[in-house]
Amino acid sequence: MAQRRSSMHGQWSSRWVFVLAATGSAVGLGNIWKFPYITGENGGGAFVLVYLVCIAGIGIPIMMAEVLLGRRGRQSPINTMATLAREAKHSPHWKYLGWSGVLAGFLILSYYSVIAGWALSYVFRAASGRFTDASADEVGAIFNNLLASPESLLAWHTIFMVMTMVVVARGVRHGLEKAIRFLMPALFMLLLIMVGYALNTGYFDEGLAFLFDADFSSLSGDSVLIAMGHAFFTLSLGMGAIMIYGSYVPEKASIAGTTFMIAGADTLVALVAGMAIFPIVFANGLEPGQGPGLIFVTLPIAFGQMPGGLFFGTLFFVLVVFAAWSSAISLIEPAITWLVENKGMKRATASIGAGIVTWFVGLGTVLSFNLWSGYTLFDKTFFDLLDYLTANIMLPLGGLFIAVFAGWIMTREATQDELRMRDHVGYRLWRFLVRYVTPAAVIVVFLEATGLLGWLMTVLER
Ligand code: PFF
Repeated sequence: MAQRRSSMHGQWSSRWVFVLAATGSAVGLGNIWKFPYITGENGGGAFVLVYLVCIAGIGIPIMMAEVLLGRRGRQSPINTMATLAREAKHSPHWKYLGWSGVLAGFLILSYYSVIAGWALSYVFRAASGRFTDASADEVGAIFNNLLASPESLLAWHTIFMVMTMVVVARGVRHGLEKAIRFLMPALFMLLLIMVGYALNTGYFDEGLAFLFDADFSSLSGDSVLIAMGHAFFTLSLGMGAIMIYGSYVPEKASIAGTTFMIAGADTLVALVAGMAIFPIVFANGLEPGQGPGLIFVTLPIAFGQMPGGLFFGTLFFVLVVFAAWSSAISLIEPAITWLVENKGMKRATASIGAGIVTWFVGLGTVLSFNLWSGYTLFDKTFFDLLDYLTANIMLPLGGLFIAVFAGWIMTREATQDELRMRDHVGYRLWRFLVRYVTPAAVIVVFLEATGLLGWLMTVLER
């Protein structure tokens, strides 16, 4: 039995609070905004299937690993990695894994806040009745006008960043935690109401077929990489967010049990969001692969037509903002805890500093939708590049090393002790997955997406 540490930043009052907070981190723009639009861009069913396989085979084992590392180390991910590596008699350089997570968190939050700003602006657009009886073209124009205005995007991005840093400054455990308890179930109910509306569009079957009929012939290596990257993004994995939340988990809680609940809830929300959106897309002759604007030009059409749409539309965007809010705070929490631990800063000071840096990087995303939209690299704008680099490369790479650490660096006794599992099937399966399957899967998908896998195969066949 190893010594048990305690976190200087506090502890969740129960495992339920942890499940709630981690679900708050996982469920966000990734589920409601990103999942539908990348599913649309990557052809539907086959992409969704790959995503689900990645959640089960890669996401869940890595989430268990992150919570395990977090609770074992009970510090910021950077210090946790250094401590646990030393404990296992390995190089403290493992702390750089924590650093890459902090960097990924900064970069993701910088654009996440801009998109959350869109949702925030839509609260007011919906409430003012702008969508009532609006045609698809009119709704599209409202969205394009928003993107074309750097001033508006900047203002909403600024407001969202301030909201985030206020909560972070007060500590993750206060304030938002209470609100989320009601808001998450409300968001889910509202998505179900939208599915009910979608059932009546006459295009529900088309929507379902698009989501669940898998045609693998159209799936590229890059699509597989995006599906895997999204499994990390949507579960908040590979950058220390779940690790830092894990560091506040009470000793008695079961890591496997809580992980299943979090991953299950997150996946359900994404699938239900897809079921609400695609029938509306097809009923209005819209393009599923039109990109990041997808929910902003489809759902308002539905709200404009349905009874009570003014109310439901406003409420929907309020709830999306809350979902994004509870995710955003977890993106910056690893950095804040490090500043508090190593620089002796107060949470408030650390929050202001980190917030300003992130806000500044966000300006690049704001401009990439208008003044800089012509500047591209590999055919990608600043926003596209940032999203691709973080979600599809940094998070899977972070996850890969977390799996290697939990599977190969930590001793069997240590992981077993922390998971509170005996040497039964469940534990052995988890260990097998993090030691072999997860690292191999990430590497194969990387090679496939870069075209290196094909090259390697031909070389081997010679
Ligand atoms: N999981 C969040 C979402 O789906 O919107 C985004 C996110 C939060 C990613 C925290 C990574 C993270 F560490």
